[in-house]
Amino acid sequence: EDPEKLAAFQARIDAGEKIEPKDWMPAGYRKTLIRQMGQHAHSEIVGQLPEGNWITRAPTLERKAILLAKVQDEAGHGLYLYCGAETLGVTRDEMTEMLLDGRMKYSSIFNYPTLTWADMGAVGWLVDGAAIMNQVPLQRTSYGPYARAMVRICKEESFHQRQGYDIMMKMAKGTPAQKKMAQDALNRLWFPSLMMFGPSDAESTHSEQSMAWKIKMNTNDELRQKFVDQTVPQAEYLGLTVPDETLAWNEDKGGYDFAEPDWNEFFDVLRGNGPCNTERLAARNKAWDDGKWVRDGMLAHAEKRRIGKVA
Ligand code: ACO
Repeated sequence: EDPEKLAAFQARIDAGEKIEPKDWMPAGYRKTLIRQMGQHAHSEIVGQLPEGNWITRAPTLERKAILLAKVQDEAGHGLYLYCGAETLGVTRDEMTEMLLDGRMKYSSIFNYPTLTWADMGAVGWLVDGAAIMNQVPLQRTSYGPYARAMVRICKEESFHQRQGYDIMMKMAKGTPAQKKMAQDALNRLWFPSLMMFGPSDAESTHSEQSMAWKIKMNTNDELRQKFVDQTVPQAEYLGLTVPDETLAWNEDKGGYDFAEPDWNEFFDVLRGNGPCNTERLAARNKAWDDGKWVRDGMLAHAEKRRIGKVA
């Protein structure tokens, strides 16, 4: 690529300008964005599955309505993000096919099961909490369509986080059995939530270039630390115990010291060996196959109209 063009591009990024779809961009910038936005979209779509699992079993009509709305929001987030990624020259169908045959990833967290109603609380509180921690800075990301999609997504994610915390409050202040369920959900989802931020900075292959391009605004470890610092007092307020005996306030750094997740487990989940990887991909493949007749019908209808107009 032309070094002058590259320098001019970097100068625009450094000056805080937004890059728009028709602007010149380095091939690597386009590729990284397609990867990240595509994976992000897939995470929203696959992320509907662990919660969709509980819609029919929500304990009250009100909880059911809230959960239904939240899961629908996730579908909407997936669609904005697919549309955003399409402005980079990839189609939604291409991205979907790459998800379905395993060429593209989605967030590791959605390969863990949701075993009890308390998991709906913990997912909202921790998983959406981690998602917002990562996505609020992305509102300032350099690619215009991605940054703008993030504004609305973050508003909805904060509602999701609050509804999760609200469930946790009910459970944690409820009967001993309910409190036990809440603690068990925290125990199971704590470390997988820390993994959402990606591998440690030393192991993160993309961070350096993505930060230079402002595709990422913070490193994985920075956001993980912020998440722990925000979440530990929330757990204390609930009267629950974070499952990390090494957790301790560190006055010097003004943050908590905490145990790293098991990175072998993380990489194993990425390789497809998490508890629910097979089930999640099977569910998405089934939805895609079951929807074929709708796609075929709509294409046939569009083709008929096109021919009709020409004639
Ligand atoms: N789950 C699955 N894969 C991951 C995860 C994770 N939690 N974290 C990192 N990886 C993958 C990366 O995709 C990369 O693999 P690849 O090269 O095959 O794509 C590899 O691990 C190395 O990691 P990094 O170099 O640190 O990757 P990256 O710079 O993309 O950082 C991050 C990862 C922080 C997740 C980034 O992509 C990001 O900010 N994405 C946007 C937010 C997002 O996708 N959120 C999804 C969950 S939130 C939700 O949907 C509700």
